[in-house]
Amino acid sequence: MEFQIGVIKGDGIGPEIVTEAQKVLDAIADKFGHKFNYQEVLMGGCSIDAYGVPLTEETIEVCKKSDAVLMGSIGGNTSTSPWYKLPPEKRPEAGLLGLRKALNLFANLRPAYLYEELKEACPLRDDIIGDGFDMMIMRELTGGLYFGKRETKEVDGLMTAVDTLTYNEEEIRRIAKRGFDIAMKRRKKVTSVDKANVLDSSRLWRKIVEEVAQDYPEVTLEHMLVDNAAMQLVKDPKQFDVILTENMFGDILSDEASMVTGSIGMLSSASLNDTKFGLYEPSGGSAPDIAGQGIANPIATILSAAMMLRYSFDLDKEADAIESAVKSVLKQGCRTIDIMPQDPAKRSAVRQVGTEEMGDLICSNL
Ligand code: IPM
Ligand code: MG
Repeated sequence: MEFQIGVIKGDGIGPEIVTEAQKVLDAIADKFGHKFNYQEVLMGGCSIDAYGVPLTEETIEVCKKSDAVLMGSIGGNTSTSPWYKLPPEKRPEAGLLGLRKALNLFANLRPAYLYEELKEACPLRDDIIGDGFDMMIMRELTGGLYFGKRETKEVDGLMTAVDTLTYNEEEIRRIAKRGFDIAMKRRKKVTSVDKANVLDSSRLWRKIVEEVAQDYPEVTLEHMLVDNAAMQLVKDPKQFDVILTENMFGDILSDEASMVTGSIGMLSSASLNDTKFGLYEPSGGSAPDIAGQGIANPIATILSAAMMLRYSFDLDKEADAIESAVKSVLKQGCRTIDIMPQDPAKRSAVRQVGTEEMGDLICSNL
């Protein structure tokens, strides 16, 4: 089959990790007889440098015309990069938020899974890790604090800033349905995370999630306050199957979940709307501190490409092939620097490799 893929390499380590994911996609195309056509567009800091804005109409159009978009990461060092001297709506992140909104990508799936081989890189104690864990974070992506009205102005002689957290029932219902649908294909448990002891938006969230749950009698629903969820993620991550939550809580909890799996360099993600279209990107940032050194972990991006094959192209066999190639490479003891064992004594049992070699190894294990 033939597919059009929009490619946004972005900033920092973005170009390095996307290049490896494309290499793996090309190897899949060869092996399974498909054709992937790439169209590269700019977004984020590189778009600011080229066009003065983080997101152009052309980028939106190319993405809309593609079957799916593969993305790296955007943004720079927020203390030192000149991009952060620009007004907020001209900064790299505004490009990403604008693109999510323009493509209506309201459902963000972030699977956090502990590979057997990476137990050594996990910062948790062995008795907490047990036989590992496997959760799916379903983050709402086009509402909440990220998209509410915001302003900074002087009130009674004091500089005052306001950000607004808004959700309507439809926005909550559609993401809740996605969460329950995914749970039906997994261990049939949904933990809905909110702050209903304080926020109105969370109280509405809870009410609508309970309504949606009525249609899924086989799924066990529990509610958890976000502060407790942050604690439970490191205390007993095994308890989670699907974590359903709003935009900001999902941003924070997914970074935490990724560290629990060993490294943010392992966490893939899919941002979906209500069609087959999706934007696939690693959950981690652009890591400007290590950009250009050839040491970034490309696995999260490669696994995001696998999600693209599965969710947008219905190529399950091909997605399985990528996921098992990643497992094989880890089994063979190859590690990028971020997933090296924490214990120095255990480092001699594995071999440290760079970004490119990791991509090559995954291709040769397909
Ligand atoms: C993420 C990132 C983005 C977010 C930033 C870059 C705007 O942290 O995808 O998790 O907060 O959504
Ligand atoms: Mg984040």
